[in-house]
Amino acid sequence: MSTCRRLAIFPMAIVLMLMIGMIAKTAHAKTVSVEMADGEGAKMLAWTFNGQFPGPVVRVTEGDKVNFRFTNSTTNARPHSMDFHAAETDYLKNYHEILPGESLEYTWDAKRPGIFVYHCGASPMIQHIARGMVGAIIVDPKNKKAMPKADREYVLVQTELFTKDPDDVQAMFDRKYDNVIFNGGIFRYDPVHATKGGQFLQAKPGERVRFYFVNGGPNNFSALHPIAEMWDDVWESGNPANHLKGVQTYVVGPAGAATLDMVVEREGVYPIVTHSLTDALRGAIAILEVKKDAKPLPLMPFVEPSLKVKVDAVTPGLAK
Ligand code: CU
Ligand code: CU
Repeated sequence: MSTCRRLAIFPMAIVLMLMIGMIAKTAHAKTVSVEMADGEGAKMLAWTFNGQFPGPVVRVTEGDKVNFRFTNSTTNARPHSMDFHAAETDYLKNYHEILPGESLEYTWDAKRPGIFVYHCGASPMIQHIARGMVGAIIVDPKNKKAMPKADREYVLVQTELFTKDPDDVQAMFDRKYDNVIFNGGIFRYDPVHATKGGQFLQAKPGERVRFYFVNGGPNNFSALHPIAEMWDDVWESGNPANHLKGVQTYVVGPAGAATLDMVVEREGVYPIVTHSLTDALRGAIAILEVKKDAKPLPLMPFVEPSLKVKVDAVTPGLAK
Protein backbone atom coordinates (compact mmCIF):
# COMPACT_ATOMS: atom_id res chain seq x y z
CA MET A 1 0.00 0.00 0.00
CA SER A 2 1.25 3.43 -0.78
CA THR A 3 2.25 5.89 1.85
CA CYS A 4 1.01 9.02 0.20
CA ARG A 5 -1.20 11.46 1.98
CA ARG A 6 -2.68 14.09 -0.16
CA LEU A 7 -2.46 14.44 -3.86
CA ALA A 8 -2.23 17.80 -5.47
CA ILE A 9 -1.62 18.16 -9.16
CA PHE A 10 -0.25 21.15 -10.95
CA PRO A 11 -1.40 20.84 -14.51
CA MET A 12 0.53 22.10 -17.43
CA ALA A 13 -1.27 24.46 -19.70
CA ILE A 14 -3.33 23.03 -22.48
CA VAL A 15 -6.24 24.63 -24.26
CA LEU A 16 -8.80 22.29 -25.65
CA MET A 17 -11.77 23.41 -27.64
CA LEU A 18 -14.59 21.20 -28.75
CA MET A 19 -17.27 22.32 -31.09
CA ILE A 20 -20.07 19.82 -31.31
CA GLY A 21 -23.20 20.76 -33.17
CA MET A 22 -23.43 24.50 -32.85
CA ILE A 23 -21.89 24.80 -29.45
CA ALA A 24 -18.31 25.78 -28.83
CA LYS A 25 -16.62 24.98 -25.58
CA THR A 26 -13.32 26.54 -24.71
CA ALA A 27 -11.00 26.06 -21.81
CA HIS A 28 -8.18 28.42 -21.06
CA ALA A 29 -5.26 26.82 -19.40
CA LYS A 30 -2.68 27.96 -16.95
CA THR A 31 -0.66 26.33 -14.26
CA VAL A 32 -2.80 25.80 -11.20
CA SER A 33 -2.96 23.45 -8.28
CA VAL A 34 -5.73 20.91 -7.97
CA GLU A 35 -6.70 19.06 -4.85
CA MET A 36 -7.66 15.49 -5.49
CA ALA A 37 -9.63 13.12 -3.31
CA ASP A 38 -7.32 10.31 -2.47
CA GLY A 39 -6.40 7.80 0.10
CA GLU A 40 -3.12 8.97 1.35
CA GLY A 41 -1.67 11.84 -0.54
CA ALA A 42 1.32 12.74 -2.63
CA LYS A 43 2.25 15.45 -5.02
CA MET A 44 2.86 15.16 -8.68
CA LEU A 45 2.99 17.39 -11.68
CA ALA A 46 0.21 16.44 -14.05
CA TRP A 47 -0.18 17.25 -17.72
CA THR A 48 -3.82 17.67 -18.54
CA PHE A 49 -6.51 18.42 -21.06
CA ASN A 50 -8.44 21.42 -19.73
CA GLY A 51 -6.78 21.20 -16.36
CA GLN A 52 -8.58 18.01 -15.43
CA PHE A 53 -7.19 14.55 -14.65
CA PRO A 54 -8.58 12.52 -16.30
CA GLY A 55 -9.72 14.83 -19.08
CA PRO A 56 -13.34 15.99 -19.36
CA VAL A 57 -15.92 13.49 -20.59
CA VAL A 58 -16.81 14.23 -24.19
CA ARG A 59 -20.28 13.12 -25.29
CA VAL A 60 -21.64 13.11 -28.81
CA THR A 61 -24.21 11.11 -30.76
CA GLU A 62 -23.61 8.62 -33.54
CA GLY A 63 -23.79 10.57 -36.80
CA ASP A 64 -22.47 13.82 -35.31
CA LYS A 65 -19.72 15.77 -37.00
CA VAL A 66 -17.18 16.70 -34.39
CA ASN A 67 -15.12 19.80 -35.01
CA PHE A 68 -12.16 19.76 -32.72
CA ARG A 69 -9.67 22.51 -32.00
CA PHE A 70 -6.60 21.90 -29.91
CA THR A 71 -4.18 24.55 -28.72
CA ASN A 72 -0.90 23.99 -26.99
CA SER A 73 -0.37 27.08 -24.91
CA THR A 74 2.75 29.19 -25.32
CA THR A 75 3.44 28.70 -21.62
CA ASN A 76 3.88 24.95 -22.14
CA ALA A 77 7.27 23.39 -22.57
CA ARG A 78 6.45 20.28 -24.59
CA PRO A 79 4.63 19.18 -27.71
CA HIS A 80 1.23 17.51 -27.27
CA SER A 81 -1.36 15.91 -29.51
CA MET A 82 -4.85 14.46 -29.44
CA ASP A 83 -5.86 10.97 -30.55
CA PHE A 84 -9.58 10.14 -30.39
CA HIS A 85 -10.12 6.41 -30.60
CA ALA A 86 -13.69 7.18 -31.64
CA ALA A 87 -12.45 8.81 -34.85
CA GLU A 88 -11.33 7.28 -38.12
CA THR A 89 -9.14 9.93 -39.64
CA ASP A 90 -5.74 10.74 -41.10
CA TYR A 91 -3.14 9.92 -38.46
CA LEU A 92 -0.30 11.97 -39.93
CA LYS A 93 -2.47 14.99 -40.63
CA ASN A 94 -4.46 15.15 -37.42
CA TYR A 95 -2.73 13.22 -34.66
CA HIS A 96 0.74 14.70 -34.97
CA GLU A 97 2.45 16.60 -32.19
CA ILE A 98 1.92 20.32 -32.01
CA LEU A 99 4.43 22.64 -30.44
CA PRO A 100 3.75 25.21 -27.70
CA GLY A 101 2.02 28.20 -29.28
CA GLU A 102 0.54 26.12 -32.11
CA SER A 103 -3.00 24.92 -32.63
CA LEU A 104 -4.70 22.36 -34.79
CA GLU A 105 -8.27 21.94 -35.96
CA TYR A 106 -9.88 18.94 -37.56
CA THR A 107 -13.31 17.47 -38.12
CA TRP A 108 -14.32 13.85 -37.86
CA ASP A 109 -17.54 11.86 -38.09
CA ALA A 110 -18.74 9.91 -35.07
CA LYS A 111 -19.66 6.86 -37.14
CA ARG A 112 -19.68 4.16 -34.49
CA PRO A 113 -21.50 4.23 -31.16
CA GLY A 114 -19.67 3.29 -27.99
CA ILE A 115 -17.25 4.32 -25.29
CA PHE A 116 -13.73 5.20 -26.36
CA VAL A 117 -10.49 6.49 -24.94
CA TYR A 118 -8.82 9.69 -26.05
CA HIS A 119 -5.25 10.54 -25.21
CA CYS A 120 -2.20 12.57 -26.05
CA GLY A 121 0.12 10.68 -28.37
CA ALA A 122 3.18 12.91 -28.08
CA SER A 123 6.47 11.22 -27.39
CA PRO A 124 7.04 9.51 -25.03
CA MET A 125 3.38 8.55 -25.11
CA ILE A 126 3.76 6.36 -22.04
CA GLN A 127 4.59 9.46 -20.01
CA HIS A 128 1.95 11.76 -21.49
CA ILE A 129 -0.73 9.22 -20.60
CA ALA A 130 0.73 8.41 -17.18
CA ARG A 131 0.81 12.10 -16.30
CA GLY A 132 -2.86 12.59 -17.05
CA MET A 133 -3.49 13.29 -20.72
CA VAL A 134 -6.23 10.71 -21.12
CA GLY A 135 -10.02 10.69 -21.01
CA ALA A 136 -13.29 9.16 -22.20
CA ILE A 137 -15.58 9.95 -25.11
CA ILE A 138 -19.10 8.53 -25.29
CA VAL A 139 -20.77 8.21 -28.68
CA ASP A 140 -24.43 7.56 -27.89
CA PRO A 141 -26.23 5.28 -30.34
CA LYS A 142 -28.54 7.12 -32.73
CA ASN A 143 -31.17 4.47 -32.07
CA LYS A 144 -32.23 5.21 -28.49
CA LYS A 145 -33.68 1.71 -28.18
CA ALA A 146 -30.44 -0.05 -29.12
CA MET A 147 -29.67 -0.57 -25.42
CA PRO A 148 -31.91 -0.72 -22.33
CA LYS A 149 -32.48 2.66 -20.76
CA ALA A 150 -30.08 3.33 -17.89
CA ASP A 151 -31.41 4.94 -14.72
CA ARG A 152 -27.99 6.22 -13.72
CA GLU A 153 -24.64 6.53 -15.49
CA TYR A 154 -21.04 6.79 -14.37
CA VAL A 155 -17.75 7.08 -16.22
CA LEU A 156 -14.71 5.35 -14.71
CA VAL A 157 -11.23 5.91 -16.16
CA GLN A 158 -8.55 3.59 -14.79
CA THR A 159 -4.90 4.65 -14.90
CA GLU A 160 -1.63 3.85 -13.23
CA LEU A 161 -0.09 6.61 -11.15
CA PHE A 162 3.63 7.29 -10.84
CA THR A 163 3.98 9.62 -7.89
CA LYS A 164 7.63 9.23 -6.98
CA ASP A 165 9.03 10.94 -10.05
CA PRO A 166 6.71 11.70 -12.98
CA ASP A 167 9.78 12.40 -15.12
CA ASP A 168 11.20 8.93 -14.55
CA VAL A 169 10.12 7.48 -17.88
CA GLN A 170 12.22 4.38 -17.31
CA ALA A 171 10.08 3.59 -14.24
CA MET A 172 7.04 3.71 -16.53
CA PHE A 173 8.67 1.25 -18.91
CA ASP A 174 9.56 -0.91 -15.90
CA ARG A 175 5.98 -0.76 -14.58
CA LYS A 176 7.10 0.70 -11.27
CA TYR A 177 3.80 2.41 -10.62
CA ASP A 178 2.78 3.51 -7.14
CA ASN A 179 -1.00 3.39 -7.43
CA VAL A 180 -3.79 2.39 -9.75
CA ILE A 181 -6.70 4.77 -9.69
CA PHE A 182 -10.19 5.44 -10.96
CA ASN A 183 -10.92 9.00 -12.11
CA GLY A 184 -7.66 10.50 -10.96
CA GLY A 185 -7.85 9.73 -7.24
CA ILE A 186 -6.48 7.00 -5.00
CA PHE A 187 -9.60 5.28 -3.59
CA ARG A 188 -11.58 8.26 -4.84
CA TYR A 189 -14.85 6.31 -4.51
CA ASP A 190 -13.81 4.13 -1.58
CA PRO A 191 -14.21 5.85 1.80
CA VAL A 192 -13.47 2.52 3.49
CA HIS A 193 -9.86 2.48 2.27
CA ALA A 194 -9.32 6.19 1.73
CA THR A 195 -7.92 7.93 4.76
CA LYS A 196 -9.65 11.08 3.60
CA GLY A 197 -11.60 12.34 0.68
CA GLY A 198 -13.16 9.12 -0.61
CA GLN A 199 -16.86 9.26 -1.46
CA PHE A 200 -19.34 6.54 -2.44
CA LEU A 201 -20.94 6.31 -5.82
CA GLN A 202 -24.68 6.00 -5.26
CA ALA A 203 -27.71 4.24 -6.70
CA LYS A 204 -31.23 3.28 -5.66
CA PRO A 205 -32.41 -0.33 -5.37
CA GLY A 206 -33.70 -1.61 -8.70
CA GLU A 207 -31.92 0.99 -10.80
CA ARG A 208 -30.02 -0.02 -13.90
CA VAL A 209 -26.60 1.53 -13.30
CA ARG A 210 -24.45 1.97 -16.39
CA PHE A 211 -20.69 2.21 -16.14
CA TYR A 212 -18.73 3.57 -19.08
CA PHE A 213 -15.33 2.12 -18.34
CA VAL A 214 -12.10 3.21 -20.00
CA ASN A 215 -8.71 1.72 -19.24
CA GLY A 216 -6.19 4.49 -19.83
CA GLY A 217 -3.23 2.32 -18.83
CA PRO A 218 -0.56 3.04 -19.85
CA ASN A 219 0.34 -0.63 -19.26
CA ASN A 220 -1.95 -2.64 -17.01
CA PHE A 221 -4.96 -4.71 -17.96
CA SER A 222 -8.08 -4.28 -15.87
CA ALA A 223 -10.25 -7.18 -14.70
CA LEU A 224 -13.37 -5.28 -13.78
CA HIS A 225 -15.56 -7.11 -11.28
CA PRO A 226 -18.49 -5.96 -9.11
CA ILE A 227 -18.11 -7.67 -5.72
CA ALA A 228 -21.34 -9.36 -4.54
CA GLU A 229 -22.96 -8.56 -7.87
CA MET A 230 -22.62 -9.39 -11.53
CA TRP A 231 -22.54 -7.43 -14.76
CA ASP A 232 -26.04 -8.00 -16.13
CA ASP A 233 -25.00 -6.71 -19.54
CA VAL A 234 -21.65 -5.83 -21.08
CA TRP A 235 -21.02 -4.22 -24.44
CA GLU A 236 -17.44 -4.42 -25.74
CA SER A 237 -16.33 -0.91 -26.71
CA GLY A 238 -19.88 0.12 -25.76
CA ASN A 239 -21.21 -0.86 -29.18
CA PRO A 240 -24.78 -2.26 -28.94
CA ALA A 241 -23.76 -4.96 -31.46
CA ASN A 242 -21.20 -6.42 -29.02
CA HIS A 243 -23.52 -7.68 -26.28
CA LEU A 244 -22.67 -10.14 -23.47
CA LYS A 245 -24.87 -11.18 -20.53
CA GLY A 246 -24.15 -12.39 -16.98
CA VAL A 247 -20.46 -11.53 -16.86
CA GLN A 248 -18.55 -11.87 -13.55
CA THR A 249 -15.28 -10.19 -14.57
CA TYR A 250 -14.63 -8.31 -17.76
CA VAL A 251 -11.09 -7.78 -18.97
CA VAL A 252 -10.29 -4.43 -20.56
CA GLY A 253 -6.80 -3.92 -21.92
CA PRO A 254 -4.90 -0.65 -22.07
CA ALA A 255 -6.78 1.86 -24.25
CA GLY A 256 -9.80 -0.46 -24.34
CA ALA A 257 -13.27 0.33 -23.06
CA ALA A 258 -16.62 -1.24 -22.32
CA THR A 259 -20.11 -0.32 -21.20
CA LEU A 260 -21.20 -2.44 -18.23
CA ASP A 261 -24.67 -2.46 -16.64
CA MET A 262 -25.55 -3.64 -13.19
CA VAL A 263 -29.07 -3.85 -11.78
CA VAL A 264 -28.84 -4.06 -7.99
CA GLU A 265 -32.00 -5.25 -6.27
CA ARG A 266 -31.00 -4.81 -2.64
CA GLU A 267 -29.68 -1.98 -0.51
CA GLY A 268 -26.05 -2.36 0.50
CA VAL A 269 -22.56 -1.62 -0.72
CA TYR A 270 -21.01 -3.17 -3.80
CA PRO A 271 -17.31 -2.58 -4.46
CA ILE A 272 -16.24 -2.44 -8.08
CA VAL A 273 -12.63 -3.47 -8.42
CA THR A 274 -10.04 -4.55 -10.86
CA HIS A 275 -9.63 -8.14 -9.69
CA SER A 276 -5.95 -7.80 -10.44
CA LEU A 277 -5.69 -7.30 -6.70
CA THR A 278 -2.30 -5.66 -6.53
CA ASP A 279 -3.96 -2.85 -8.46
CA ALA A 280 -7.24 -2.82 -6.53
CA LEU A 281 -5.42 -2.54 -3.22
CA ARG A 282 -3.32 0.30 -4.55
CA GLY A 283 -6.34 2.46 -5.18
CA ALA A 284 -8.62 1.00 -7.88
CA ILE A 285 -11.74 0.32 -5.84
CA ALA A 286 -15.02 2.17 -6.34
CA ILE A 287 -17.87 1.40 -3.96
CA LEU A 288 -21.46 1.72 -5.13
CA GLU A 289 -23.70 2.47 -2.19
CA VAL A 290 -27.26 1.37 -2.92
CA LYS A 291 -29.89 3.09 -0.80
CA LYS A 292 -33.41 4.44 -1.20
CA ASP A 293 -32.40 8.09 -0.88
CA ALA A 294 -29.46 7.94 -3.31
CA LYS A 295 -28.73 11.34 -4.82
CA PRO A 296 -28.22 12.13 -8.48
CA LEU A 297 -24.54 12.46 -9.33
CA PRO A 298 -22.71 13.63 -12.44
CA LEU A 299 -21.09 11.23 -14.92
CA MET A 300 -17.69 11.63 -13.28
CA PRO A 301 -18.46 12.59 -9.69
CA PHE A 302 -16.12 14.66 -7.55
CA VAL A 303 -13.71 15.37 -10.39
CA GLU A 304 -13.31 19.08 -10.85
CA PRO A 305 -11.39 20.88 -13.56
CA SER A 306 -8.69 23.06 -12.12
CA LEU A 307 -9.44 25.61 -14.80
CA LYS A 308 -12.73 27.40 -15.11
CA VAL A 309 -14.14 26.35 -18.45
CA LYS A 310 -15.52 29.25 -20.38
CA VAL A 311 -18.38 28.30 -22.66
CA ASP A 312 -18.39 30.47 -25.75
CA ALA A 313 -21.50 31.81 -27.30
CA VAL A 314 -23.03 29.79 -30.10
CA THR A 315 -20.61 29.67 -32.99
CA PRO A 316 -22.62 29.12 -36.15
CA GLY A 317 -21.24 27.27 -39.09
CA LEU A 318 -18.37 25.55 -37.36
CA ALA A 319 -19.92 22.13 -37.22
CA LYS A 320 -22.92 20.35 -38.62
CU1 CU B 1 0.84 15.41 -24.12
CU1 CU C 1 -4.38 5.23 -28.69
